[in-house]
Amino acid sequence: MCGIVGVLGNHEVSPQILDALKRLEYRGYDSAGIATINRGKLDLRRAVGKLINLSDILVHEPLPGRSGIGHTRWATHGGPSVANAHPHRAGRVAVVHNGIIENFRALREELGAEGISFSSETDTETIVQLASLYLERGMTAVEAARATLKRLEGAFAVAFLFEGEEDMIICARRGSPLCIGHGQNEMYLGSDAIALAELTDRITYLEEGDWAILSRSGALIFDADDHQTNRPVTRINVETARVDKSGHRHFMAKEMAEQPRVLQASMSHYAGLSGGDITLPAELDFANTDRLIMVACGTAFYACQVAKYWFEKYAGLPVELDIASEFRYRDPVLGPNNTALFVSQSGETADTLAALRHVSPHVAQVVSVINVPTSSIARESAVALPIHAGPEIGVASTKAFTAQLQVLALLALKAGMQRGRLTPEAFEARLAELRAVPGFVAQALDREEEIRRLTETLSQARDVLFLGRGVMYPLALEGALKLKEISYIHAEAYAAGELKHGPIALVDTDLPVIVFAPHDGLFEKTASNMQEVMARQGTVILISDAQGLAEAGDVPYCLQMPTVPEFIAPIIYAVPAQLIAYHTALHRGTDVDQPRNLAKSVTVE
Ligand code: G6P
Repeated sequence: MCGIVGVLGNHEVSPQILDALKRLEYRGYDSAGIATINRGKLDLRRAVGKLINLSDILVHEPLPGRSGIGHTRWATHGGPSVANAHPHRAGRVAVVHNGIIENFRALREELGAEGISFSSETDTETIVQLASLYLERGMTAVEAARATLKRLEGAFAVAFLFEGEEDMIICARRGSPLCIGHGQNEMYLGSDAIALAELTDRITYLEEGDWAILSRSGALIFDADDHQTNRPVTRINVETARVDKSGHRHFMAKEMAEQPRVLQASMSHYAGLSGGDITLPAELDFANTDRLIMVACGTAFYACQVAKYWFEKYAGLPVELDIASEFRYRDPVLGPNNTALFVSQSGETADTLAALRHVSPHVAQVVSVINVPTSSIARESAVALPIHAGPEIGVASTKAFTAQLQVLALLALKAGMQRGRLTPEAFEARLAELRAVPGFVAQALDREEEIRRLTETLSQARDVLFLGRGVMYPLALEGALKLKEISYIHAEAYAAGELKHGPIALVDTDLPVIVFAPHDGLFEKTASNMQEVMARQGTVILISDAQGLAEAGDVPYCLQMPTVPEFIAPIIYAVPAQLIAYHTALHRGTDVDQPRNLAKSVTVE
């Protein structure tokens, strides 16, 4: 959360910083700001809300200068206000920060005792006040930044700009990602490489604990022990890092539409275009695994929840599943033959990363399924499996979810073979089913207009209930999460069989109940639960296939999905879950790509 940019350029940097911030806006959009040094003087502009507000201010009050830092904020300490917006400034220092300074209260007290008063409620201001104090005490900019960094506790990425130092940005990475971009006698800094894609394709990823002094001619990088160190310069594919809506109204719409292509690309990476094998790193070993521990947050967690059914059914592997923020604060019993599997689109989610670090020393192997191969989670896993979904910008995860499911399905099949639970014939049959996923997803996407019509009434609802059984239960959870996230309608999901143990009390004529129920082995059971809702005047929307709809009888609203094998059904049924949320949000006029209070990459606990 929060995006950081820095530019030491040869032209006016405000437009470059603003443009880079646009690509980081997925990290937060509560406020934004830029600081530059112009003719030796530090100056800044800040605005509450989205970047467009900062752009407007810059039109009327331009911010000249060839050195600058910028920030887009997801509020943690202190609400969204101009005073709390970054960059923060004290004396001759400006700072942008992503993360949390955990000892900020103690630092505030200490600085208060020095007679320093604060102008914001943020933890960040302690950084800038400390650095300014050290400058006043006679330290150089580098000494002041280094001394300040040594005082900070917590997880963060930070950048300092000093008045009088037009050829210097000092930055540090401790817990939150940060990368350096190399230009032609220019240097850049960004929370991720995508931010810098229009500026350079040469990127250095800072390692945990690194700090660096940037000048136009290069970067001096130091490790956590202050030893100067070399970090490699890697070339990124700027085409894949480039992000636009490609003619779609929203990133979410584009990302949903991309799913058939993304799933095809991911499939061909792991299993070729045809044939009967799955290529995974040789060291990946499920044969000796006695327990699989899966940990994730949000939508990625629901992908794990689906995968639990697959690993149990096709690989006979006991699975333990937890939300990262819960997992790390209990005392999970870990064994030397356990495999820990972490799923994360961004690969930077603080809770998931912390859970990974927590288990790493205690388990046989740490595996991750991520979308960003250069992310912290990927780099700290023994085996990192990219989902190849390309940048996902819409805050509500769509293509990453289906691609995560597909990679997890491949893993479950591989585990089934390694553990001797699947015959070669069964393995090949399931793999052939997976190969059909992109086509079925395209067919599900073709139902968009029907779904749009369904959501006309749904968008009037105050609450919505989602039901599903078996693998459709996590789908119901994902459908409810999507709807909450972008339409702000309160939604709950229940395992259909659990309905009678409480939530059925909520059912009345005003409560739409969306039921995910393909005609599988559990259909009869789910259909009975649906009848229980209809008997109490609940308005059911049934999502099923031709046979399911035919057998369901008279249901108020129906949506027909293609008839698909049971194994791959969760991937296909993710599409109506996404489209229902999207079109409901459109009817309600909410901000689909940047829903209130949310951020895509959550790098704070
Ligand atoms: C945030 C996003 C969700 C996402 C979750 C986990 O809450 O809004 O869409 O599912 O983080 O993110 P990750 O990057 O770890 O998959």
